[in-house]
Amino acid sequence: MYRVGNEEVKAVGKIILSKQYFRMADKKSGCFQECDKFEKEWSKYIGTKHSLLMSGGGTAALICALAGLEIGPGDEVIVPAYTFMASASAVLCVGAIPVLAEVDDTLMLDPIDVEKKITKNTKAIMPVHLCGLPCDMGKLMAIARKYKLLVIEDACQASGVTYNGVKVGKIGHAGAFSFNYFKTITCGEGGAVVMDNKKVFERALVYHDSGANFRPFAKKLSIPVFLGMQFRASEIMGAMLRVQLKRLPGILKDLRRLKNKLVEEVSGSRNLTFIRSNDEKGENGAGVHFQFENEAAARKFAKAPGVGGMLPIDSGKHVYSNWDPILENRVGVKKAANPYFFPANKKLRLKYNKVMCPKTLDILSRAVRVGINPDWKEKDLAKKIKAIKIAGESL
Ligand SMILES: Cc1ncc(COP(=O)(O)O)c(C=O)c1O
Repeated sequence: MYRVGNEEVKAVGKIILSKQYFRMADKKSGCFQECDKFEKEWSKYIGTKHSLLMSGGGTAALICALAGLEIGPGDEVIVPAYTFMASASAVLCVGAIPVLAEVDDTLMLDPIDVEKKITKNTKAIMPVHLCGLPCDMGKLMAIARKYKLLVIEDACQASGVTYNGVKVGKIGHAGAFSFNYFKTITCGEGGAVVMDNKKVFERALVYHDSGANFRPFAKKLSIPVFLGMQFRASEIMGAMLRVQLKRLPGILKDLRRLKNKLVEEVSGSRNLTFIRSNDEKGENGAGVHFQFENEAAARKFAKAPGVGGMLPIDSGKHVYSNWDPILENRVGVKKAANPYFFPANKKLRLKYNKVMCPKTLDILSRAVRVGINPDWKEKDLAKKIKAIKIAGESL
């Protein structure tokens, strides 16, 4: 969350006072149809034909993407070993099995390891644009085409990030975004799934609304209505996000400007190497990442006065070795409802261990992220640059 102000208060206040919170209500009943409007605006911004706002966050958006693409029991989905656990847990929510792949020196999914992990059971790849850094979508899409795999982009931390000038989320077969409290734009909780394919959209639409059977849209669908979940967004969420979306280009412009200046000033400093980027211009600018020769140097740099660095290996929930429920195959309450015990998944790769992705653990323990805030003044940036340079010199 970066910028929130009176515009959001006004937009949300209008909805609260209207008492029209239900997004499925029609215009005649007084509904402002803020969710519909946000979805149109989000589709236009990302560049997809469809988008669907929902409660349940980016996790729900990933689940709807997977369900929309008919991924389920019997399917393996390749996910990176460095991401929030929800990327993998969404796969289990539709009954499929996540297979972990290494990240490379960009901190993002390693196309070489992805190709090595493909078997006849692989149905999809899930590149995760973590920390606003784009994955190598060129190589990953080429692999997907070669093996006829689906691609679900987890763009939960990457609203407005681009790869080769195209917004992430639009490049694969479906993309998921999160609008939770920690993201670039927010409505507290919430998420959106985007795609071009009409049938994928319709399945996601039905899956996200437990009352789909009774909605006017049900008559217009090209697929039969089935039972899904209850991830419907409220009009309050739609109203807040419409204001947040207006702020997004400005937030990204400021983040990128500050990041570029920092990179320019720090470049060439002794002992400091930036992490390789898959597309420097496309990053959201919310942080600068450095790579060191060893963990001791990374820790010394991160802790140096004024640097405020963080080692990705310390990010806890984002490192696969901390995903205990997945590593120990604990999903849901009943064994029979746990995908790790589904007969259809019997022949898939179900076993994990804490050291199975050693390259990821090594890279994450030698990297440092320094966060950037779009509201920094020039003097804040100058202070940060000075601290980084001094810390590099003293290594
Ligand atoms: C990469 C990634 N994927 C998925 C999610 C899940 O999003 P949410 O918390 O909105 O469900 C997050 C949230 O932090 C995330 O960072």
